[in-house]
Amino acid sequence: MFGAPLVIVAVVDEYRMKRWLELNDAPFYNNQPVNVFIAFWDAVIALHNVVVAAESLGLGTVYIGNVLSLDLAAILGTPEYVIPAGMVCIGYPDEAPPQRPRLPLEAVVHRNCYRIPTDDEVRAAHRERDAHWDGLPEARRQALLAQGITNTAQRVTLGHYTEAFIEGESRAIVRNLKQAKFRLTGIDYEEESQA
Ligand SMILES: Cc1cc2nc3c(=O)[nH]c(=O)nc-3n(C[C@H](O)[C@H](O)[C@H](O)COP(=O)(O)O)c2cc1C
Repeated sequence: MFGAPLVIVAVVDEYRMKRWLELNDAPFYNNQPVNVFIAFWDAVIALHNVVVAAESLGLGTVYIGNVLSLDLAAILGTPEYVIPAGMVCIGYPDEAPPQRPRLPLEAVVHRNCYRIPTDDEVRAAHRERDAHWDGLPEARRQALLAQGITNTAQRVTLGHYTEAFIEGESRAIVRNLKQAKFRLTGIDYEEESQA
């Protein structure tokens, strides 16, 4: 990431909307959850189009999830009503790793309604991923066992995306929302509509 020749950050930008509304004496109430979600969608669509275009030109790309917790106001001088939505590093790939295992289609596609899988179906869908544990170098597996990690799933939440990590990232995301003045707390739409 730090060596990438190009890093693109996509943002939720309701500040741009606010300025335009103000210049036209229109009210601004676009500081609410629907605005965050729709603007997030806009930003990620744009960023993914960049990724598709870059990859079609033979470039390599990698999304970086922790942009969501970065303080963009401090780093890039973003104003109120702007928060990070996505980030991608772009460069010339110096390796061509094999494709990582994919979940079978039936594990991710639901037709007409959400079908709750059985435990056996969940196990079957993740068989390849679970088998990764057995392929680990012995020293690595022993090191994980010493940490109380006994399978691939535990490696995910106990080893990598730990509770402390998830909470830290989430706290920073909430800070970003508050710092950008998005109105996400203390909202009770039901109460307000009855008033
Ligand atoms: C929302 C999102 C966040 C990601 N964040 C990171 C990251 O922080 N670091 C990283 O190395 N890769 C990150 N990736 C890239 C994935 O690890 C993965 O390489 C990419 O989605 C391509 O999937 P594939 O390797 O299975 O084809 C992220 C991908 C997505 C969609």
